[in-house]
Amino acid sequence: MSKQWIEVGSIEDIPALGARVIKTGQGQIAVFKALDGSIFALHNRCPHRQGPLSDGIVHGHKVTCPLHNWVIDLENGKADAPDNGCAPTVPLKVEEGVIFLKM
Ligand code: FES
Repeated sequence: MSKQWIEVGSIEDIPALGARVIKTGQGQIAVFKALDGSIFALHNRCPHRQGPLSDGIVHGHKVTCPLHNWVIDLENGKADAPDNGCAPTVPLKVEEGVIFLKM
């Protein structure tokens, strides 16, 4: 089945430096908002041991995992060196303040 844009809510619903969890058929997706208002969507599983990234601390365009402090780049899902791994990102668009994920 081809992927479609799915509406998941308003950017206003996510506080700056916060995250919202969207439950999908492909697992939980964490939608983050950085301090500058940028929005990012990643699978809500740390590449280390599946920690819930949505509970992490957002700083810049990164999130620190709440379990063992790996730092994940919100733009590409990659762990900062020396750690190695990736939380898959999800394509996202914002139209008139509404967030859509391509799932
Ligand atoms: S599960 Fe994220 S750092 Fe260990």
